[in-house]
Amino acid sequence: MDFSLTPSQEQVRSQARAFAQERVAPMAREMDERGAMPLALIQEMADLGFLGGPLPKEFGGGGWDAVSLALCYEELGRADSSVRGFMTVHTSLVSQCILQWGNEAQKREYLPRLTCGQMIGCYCLTEPNAGSDAASMETTATLDGDQYVLNGEKIWITSGNIAHLAIVFANAEPKLKHKGICAFLVATDTPGFRREKMRGKELGHRASDHAHVVFENMRVPKSALLGAAGDGFKVAMSALDHGRLGVAAGALGVAQACLDASIEFAKTRRQFGQRIGNFEMIQSTLADMAAGVDGARMLVYRAAWLKDQGVKVTRDVSIAKLFAAETAAQAASDAVLLHGGRGYSNEYPVERYYRDIKGLQIYEGTAHIQRIVIARELLGRE
Ligand code: CAA
Repeated sequence: MDFSLTPSQEQVRSQARAFAQERVAPMAREMDERGAMPLALIQEMADLGFLGGPLPKEFGGGGWDAVSLALCYEELGRADSSVRGFMTVHTSLVSQCILQWGNEAQKREYLPRLTCGQMIGCYCLTEPNAGSDAASMETTATLDGDQYVLNGEKIWITSGNIAHLAIVFANAEPKLKHKGICAFLVATDTPGFRREKMRGKELGHRASDHAHVVFENMRVPKSALLGAAGDGFKVAMSALDHGRLGVAAGALGVAQACLDASIEFAKTRRQFGQRIGNFEMIQSTLADMAAGVDGARMLVYRAAWLKDQGVKVTRDVSIAKLFAAETAAQAASDAVLLHGGRGYSNEYPVERYYRDIKGLQIYEGTAHIQRIVIARELLGRE
């Protein structure tokens, strides 16, 4: 077994680490308080080649393997989950999905623009009555000549208010259940595409944009179909195979950030006449956190490596997402406690890690859904 990284993987990691620590981390608290990330930061990610990292060079991409992409997400997640979350939706749920399912014309039209940051992508699956049970979506697509007419609504759409391009899922034949679902590539300035900010203030990921999107008699040509009619549910699920690996890697980054912050605090904070790191209860917390981080890293890298071998990774990605997010949630909770009163304020970043990580346990399939995916692979379907 070879656990070393190749020179090009090392290069992606060091470039992502430098950007995350020098550009993102210093502004993370301000972005969190302001509730938005600067569009200029997104452009910087595009210019550095991150947004198109895993795409082939012919579409302006970097030709990264899955391990390199996971390393990039890990480093971004270590600095800020909103920024990492933006990139995972844009690059994995949207660009990698178009690369997998798009026809030649669609790939040529959209991928270079998504890669260079000229276009921002979003993924419209979740609905008020169809969250975990994505197949029960109520958005309809009615065929009218050579156009589909879409009606319905979507919620929690990351980047929905700033996106130029949306992958929209709608059911063209509801009686066929998931086999009637279609995926469409839709420009967000299409008449009938309405969007607004989600109501309420989020627990975490406050620098992310979250939209409520409504389709009112929105007409799209048949040529906007991504994949064949009726393939939409498979398109959605396979995109989540890409995206969930990104979330898993981001969660690993959060867990690592909790460990980094806790070590630093344990070395510098003094109580009872000595550094608190001398106390065994603090040592025990740090040791458990370190073991969790190592376990999560092995699972995330293994899933990425298997993906690079061309193996179907649905189960491995779900295991990585489940374990990494649960590990990071425990690490964030422990890190806040270890920081005492300071951990309870946004003076220290662990407070943000604690709020943000809850999102990673929920979006792109809750921890419960990951367990269902894993168990189905273990038991088979009856
Ligand atoms: N890749 C390709 N095809 C897949 C697949 C995958 N990973 N998983 C399932 N399929 C196929 C199955 O093979 C099956 O195909 P057939 O009809 O040919 O047999 C079909 O899809 C239906 O599969 P299931 O019977 O397993 O479907 P289900 O209705 O039981 O649902 C589920 C399975 C795992 C629970 C799924 O609904 C799921 O993942 N739910 C969670 C949804 C989710 O993650 N939502 C988050 C959206 S994104 C977000 O959070 C916000 C944002 O902005 C990004």
